[in-house]
Amino acid sequence: MWKGRFRENTAKVVQDFTQSLDIDWFLAPYDIQGSVAHGRMLVTAGLLSPEEGEAIEEALGRIEKEISSGEFTPSEELEDVHMNIEHRLIELLGRVGAKLHTGRSRNDQVALTVRLFLRDRLTRLAEGLDGLLAVLLEKAEEHVQVIIPGYTHLQQAQPISLGHYWMAHFEAFSRDRRRLRFALESLEDCPLGSGALAGSTLPLDRFATASELSFARPSDNSLDSVGQRDYMADYHSFASLFAVHCSRLAEDFVIYSSGEFGWLLLPDGFCTGSSMMPQKKNPDVLELLRGKTGQIVGHFLDLLITLKGLPMTYDRDLQEDKRGLRRSLTTVEGMLEVLVPLLAAVQVDGARAEEGMADGFALATDVAEYLVLRGIPFREAHEKVGRVVKECLAGKKGLFDLSREEWRVLLPEAGDDLLPLLSLRSAVERRTTWGGTAFDRVHEQIARGRALLASAP
Ligand code: ARG
Repeated sequence: MWKGRFRENTAKVVQDFTQSLDIDWFLAPYDIQGSVAHGRMLVTAGLLSPEEGEAIEEALGRIEKEISSGEFTPSEELEDVHMNIEHRLIELLGRVGAKLHTGRSRNDQVALTVRLFLRDRLTRLAEGLDGLLAVLLEKAEEHVQVIIPGYTHLQQAQPISLGHYWMAHFEAFSRDRRRLRFALESLEDCPLGSGALAGSTLPLDRFATASELSFARPSDNSLDSVGQRDYMADYHSFASLFAVHCSRLAEDFVIYSSGEFGWLLLPDGFCTGSSMMPQKKNPDVLELLRGKTGQIVGHFLDLLITLKGLPMTYDRDLQEDKRGLRRSLTTVEGMLEVLVPLLAAVQVDGARAEEGMADGFALATDVAEYLVLRGIPFREAHEKVGRVVKECLAGKKGLFDLSREEWRVLLPEAGDDLLPLLSLRSAVERRTTWGGTAFDRVHEQIARGRALLASAP
């Protein structure tokens, strides 16, 4: 394509090193979509005759079929998807085909094509993410009244509604939903018509191509348009946090489904066995959700490091951005695809979860707060209840085992009205602060969650 200026052909080793076909051939349909819009605009701008425009569009349609049927074999000598398609167009149409690249550079072509591709994938991903949020809402609704231990430092802390727990994951993934929407908004500017970097002397109508390709507007600065990849970083930022959230959820499930905890029951279809130990049922899917997170974060870093220190504007380093993008998308889609049905099929043994709190120590805070309502400063109350716990531990008893008489001795400040409060149910029910675990509060969270999902993007 640039033979005019050169005395020698490109060395074979350079061709191999610089070609990007292995990472951009998948963009072919989007390249054609962009070329059709560009061609139509060239016609209205008077740079192509209507007949030439028609011939180009028809040939592009033919090339698209050749590609989808697999009969088009791209050549590495032609470096990338864009030059392969243009070369074929010229093969088919001769001088007319040679007119399509008018006012266009591969720099704005690449920027456009990746944006079109990413917009498609993110639109589908947004639907998948809403599916995950919907399952979390269903789970929450089903389990509002189920009580499980809440942990800090993975030590039993206070009893909580399982519905509240599901809604905590809902919160995290709904923030991801916002980040995904933001990544989609970053794709609303159309770079086509920015040329190599500075625009064009030809009368291109950038508003026409932007609207033809369903963008909100043409991008405002041609230098920035061809050299920036923020929209990819916005995707990677979404993907990284999404994966981190998946991996934390997966880790919880690994723990809660283990023999020692045992109140979360994983569906057989989502577990694997051992080649040696007949009794095993392993949570490999969860471990892989956790394990794949590293790659997702790695792809984000890969892009940021590529971008760091790049001079304005397009630099060839940018060619490397597509590999990680595509891999990340495929991995994230796969994670979502397995997580949604797994979550839907998870079951819970509520009795076992409560058994885990049989010693009653998870209610120690409740006793201290009871004392606060009787006028005792919290720090003193904390210490007094701490001593009760110490006595219990020494006597190998739990809080629930203490008789009325023993409470009178160990905690004379407490009245008989303490005892009815000492149940897991009451502990959950009474945590009515905004955002707290009380059943009523959880119902409200679920209602807000439903409204969010019903709201337009
Ligand atoms: N194959 C390249 C890419 O994907 C296109 C390079 C276009 N620009 C250039 N100056 N070589 O980024």
